[in-house]
Amino acid sequence: MVVAPDERSAREPKYYVVKRHLLELIGTLPPGSLVPTERLLTTQLATSRTTVRQALSELVGEGRLVRRQGSGTYVAEPKVSWPLEMTSFTEQASASGHSASTELLDASREKASDEVALRLGLKVGAAVHRIERLRLVDETPMAVETSHLSALAFPGLAKHLRQSESLYQVLRNQYGVVPVTAEETIETAAASPREAELLHTDTGSPMLVLSRHSFASDGTPVEWVQSWYRGDRYRFVTRLTTR
Ligand code: GLP
Repeated sequence: MVVAPDERSAREPKYYVVKRHLLELIGTLPPGSLVPTERLLTTQLATSRTTVRQALSELVGEGRLVRRQGSGTYVAEPKVSWPLEMTSFTEQASASGHSASTELLDASREKASDEVALRLGLKVGAAVHRIERLRLVDETPMAVETSHLSALAFPGLAKHLRQSESLYQVLRNQYGVVPVTAEETIETAAASPREAELLHTDTGSPMLVLSRHSFASDGTPVEWVQSWYRGDRYRFVTRLTTR
């Protein structure tokens, strides 16, 4: 069925008409260009400030615009494309010509919850490492990553991670373990105040949460990891082939 243009606008919420107008404008401007103020758009488009604000907020959430406090709203830089492969963060960054760095936020031991126990093939309450790290690319915070691994299988892991930034290097060099396969899921979520602060964004902004469940070549579970990325800055790319 073909929808006539006036029928389309009749069904569209008002803010969406403003959003379409802004998308057209963004398409003509290079990244970093200032877009008209809320007040100006309200007058130009003969609509309310709330309507303009809703359109702008959605475009900020989608990574098309960026707000700079006290300065204005600008056309955003294109998103960073990040391949989805069975590699480590450190290896992936250097393969893409970037430099990776890591801040260790937490390296503690805790008792496995039902989910962690199930993922790692352990009994509920068994000792596990909880490793929380901020991952940076070219010194810009990219993701907050929380990994769980068996404490029995990897004694002294926290100490090694204070000396090395790559978990996969430590697993290989200290324990002879290489994660070779993984199941990875991607979901959306809203940034908590803590993630927002670490990733320099606003609480509630859209995030992409990647959960990786990785295994060694003999099928033993190695890690259960959740990585929180800014949904407005990253896109994940994977190559699909027929079976
Ligand atoms: C990626 C994966 C994580 C994995 C990490 C290891 O970020 N999503 O599941 O733990 O790589 O990276 P590195 O060896 O740099 O610590």
